[in-house]
Order: sequence, then structure tokens, then C-alpha cells
Amino acid sequence: MAQITFPKGFVWGTASSAYQIEGAWNEDGKGVSIWDTFAHTPGKIVNDETGDGSIDHYHRCKEDAALMAELGLKHYRFSTAWTRILPAGAGPVNPKGIAFYDRLLDTLLKHKIEPYLCLFHWDLPQALQDKGGWPKRETAYAFADYARVVTKHFGDRLNVIFTHNEPWVAAFVGHFLAMHAPGTRDLGAALRAAHHILLSHGLAAEAIRAEAKKPLKIGITLNLNPVYPATESKKDAEAADRVDAIMNRIQLDPLLKGTTPIEEFKIIKALVGGLVQPGDLEKIRTLDLLGVNYYSRAVMKHSAKVPVVNVEQVHPEGNEYSGMWEIFPEGLHALLTRIQKDYFLPSPPAPLPKTGEGRQAPELMITENGIPVPDGLDADGRVRDERRIRYLKNHIYQVYRAIQDGVPVKGYFHWSFMDNFEWALGYGQRFGLVYVDFQTQKRTVKDSGRWFAEVIRANGFEI
Ligand code: FCB
Repeated sequence: MAQITFPKGFVWGTASSAYQIEGAWNEDGKGVSIWDTFAHTPGKIVNDETGDGSIDHYHRCKEDAALMAELGLKHYRFSTAWTRILPAGAGPVNPKGIAFYDRLLDTLLKHKIEPYLCLFHWDLPQALQDKGGWPKRETAYAFADYARVVTKHFGDRLNVIFTHNEPWVAAFVGHFLAMHAPGTRDLGAALRAAHHILLSHGLAAEAIRAEAKKPLKIGITLNLNPVYPATESKKDAEAADRVDAIMNRIQLDPLLKGTTPIEEFKIIKALVGGLVQPGDLEKIRTLDLLGVNYYSRAVMKHSAKVPVVNVEQVHPEGNEYSGMWEIFPEGLHALLTRIQKDYFLPSPPAPLPKTGEGRQAPELMITENGIPVPDGLDADGRVRDERRIRYLKNHIYQVYRAIQDGVPVKGYFHWSFMDNFEWALGYGQRFGLVYVDFQTQKRTVKDSGRWFAEVIRANGFEI
């Protein structure tokens, strides 16, 4: 056994999102989002569950923040529901929505918990969807205005604003794979959505900087999966490269290099010619804080059966899996060192970045990592989730290794603080450090929650 210790000031936190925890889907003037609509459509969510009431954080935010404080948490990433603040996506502001986030922020600050606010965790206002949603460029401008409103009301209590959570998932899982809202199957729409979401990041960054009375860091959170070829064949290696381009580089290149791999694909170019307008890439390349969400890797093989991309995912036998993904801790180290090598170390392209404009290498943090475990209460009322503790040790150790190898990782946020609504999978996948009885809403800290509290206290753990 050896004790590993993280750099002084390392940020330990937990993450959540509005639709997954708030409930109160139509209370106090909140507008309808595409997730309300999607979840209300029969057949979209396991057991037709919805986030209507979810874990009732809207009414329990004070108790929930107090529980965070009890565990010694000092940093909390959450998202605001666009439709609580601007019920129709644009236009009049909803005072009760503002009051809720005021309450949440003030309670967090009272407990000395630093808020990391994220503007968009997939719950687009239905009113904007009805006008075309993310595939339409206008949505990016509406988002920038929403960013301005949030900055105006809450900027005084924030140091960081994340614009988006996992643009790739919102674009491709929502518009091409149809597993998330809005649930369409259209590759062109997904590509347009992907570009407009990134464009909206750049436009929002401008709006936030113009509105803020003090410097705010602009962040974005990306789902990144290191991609491995299934075999050593050249075809599989090329398949892995294609997936890397369409999953990882499609997000990282515009944000950090001012380029896009879209043009590398003939078919894609044909589908969305003219999508990227002059000046767009320049606007997108602005970032102070890069958040990495890591859950698993992707193992890919060439497959002529699958049109357009000619790839198929492989699930290697003999490895450990959770209810959702392969468990592959080494992938996190590979991912972090790759970001450093490909994006942070090379000198930035001309024109040389000016400091303070979000153009130097951003700070790097893990903004989500966790495992779904079918937890339950034991007879004595405890939740013995050893599997989660093992998962966390193995993954956080890989973050430690990356730091030792020179990657400047500044923080780690666990997904999630409490069990909650896991999108299309409903309430069946529990990710929390805190167990939630979905009938009574009673919260019980799991063994992993106590373990994580100790990690924060010691700024490290025994491995
Ligand atoms: C991520 C999402 C988050 C949660 C975890 C398990 O992709 O950002 O909301 O669902 O997966």
C-alpha cells in the first residue's frame, strides 16, 4: 500500500445536471424543454420513466447543499435549466427561475462550496426546437443571449461558467442515433447541430465577457473516448482514426486549434457544405478551462456493413463491464497524455494568442467520471458500494499518473453526487455517492461517499 497525494489546491468536486435532478418540470413558470417532450413520448425511456419529479432537488436544494458540506465537498458542478430562466428560450425572464438559482448559489456559498455553473446540459427549450433547434444557426445566437442573462444575474457569485456539457452527445446521440432528445435520425442535422453548438460556445464566451463585472473563466465539458483499433490491421487502424476524428477531434480541433476535421470526410462535406462560415472557427477557439468527461474507451473495427463511416464497435471479451460501458481506467491516462501532446504542447497557430482572451492552453479538469452500480440498502441501512470505490481508486490513480507525467490536471469531479435520472435509461442506473430512495426521496450517504470525503480531506488516498 502506498499513499498518493495530489498537488496543493487540487479541485475535488461532484457534478450534476438540471434535468436529471431538479424535478418540478412545470412549476413556477418553467417552460417545456426537449427532454420534457422526449421523456413524455411513450417508448423513449426505459419503463417510460421521466424527470418530471426526479429527485426533487428543486425543493430540496438547501438540504442537498448541506449534505455536500457535511462530506467536505468544496466544489460543485451543476447546470441551469434554460427553460426555468427563459421559458420560451428567448424573451421574458422568469423571476421564479432566477430566484431558484439565487437560492442554490447563496446556499452553496454559505457552505463555502464553489459553484461551477454549466449553461447547457441538453435541455433545449422546446420553443427553440420548434423553430429548428441546434441544426439552425439562429439557436446559437439565442444561446449567447441566454448566457448573457445568466451572467447578468449570477456572474457576481461565479468564477467559472461552462457553456456546454458534451456537445457531441447533444448533437449525435440526439439527432443521429435518436436515443436522446430531440430523437431524430439525420446525419446532416447532427453535423449541423455539432457545429452550431460549438459556435454558440464562442458567441456565449463573447457575451459573458462583455456582461461580466469581473473576470470569469469560460469552460466547456467534452465527452472524450480514446479510440483503439480492434486488431493490428491497417483497416482497423484507419477505422479507429475515423472514429477519433468524428468523436474527439470534431470537438477538440475547433476549440483548441481553430480547425475542423469535417472537411476530411468527402461524404460529410457533401452533406453540410457551407456550414462552417468564414470567421466561425476563429470565434470557437476561445477557452479557459477544458473539462473532460471520461467513462470508457471505444474499440473499433472496419465494417463495410455500416454506411458512411464504415466502422463497428467491438466489446472485447474477458474485460470488466458496468451496466453501461467497459471499465478501462488506463484509457483516462492515455486520453490526458494525448490531449497534452496533441493540443497543449504544440505551439499555438498564428496569430499568437493574447493572454486573457482564452487563447492560451486552457486549464484541464476531469468534469465527470463514475460508474453505475445496482446499489441497495443493506439491513443496517448502509450502502456498501465497494465496486464504486474500486472504480474510483483505479481511475483517480490514472489522473495521478498523468500528473506525474507532466499533464497539468487541476481537478476531478465525480459523477454524480446523488443517484438520479439517467436519461434514456431512466432510474435504473445509480451513479451517486449518495443513495436516493426514489419513492421517499430519502438520501443516504454510500460507503463511496464517505471514502470520497476522506480523499478530499487527505488530498489523496492509499492505493
Ligand atoms: C454523461 C452525462 C451525464 C451522465 C453521465 C453518466 O454522458 O454528461 O449527464 O448521464 O454520462
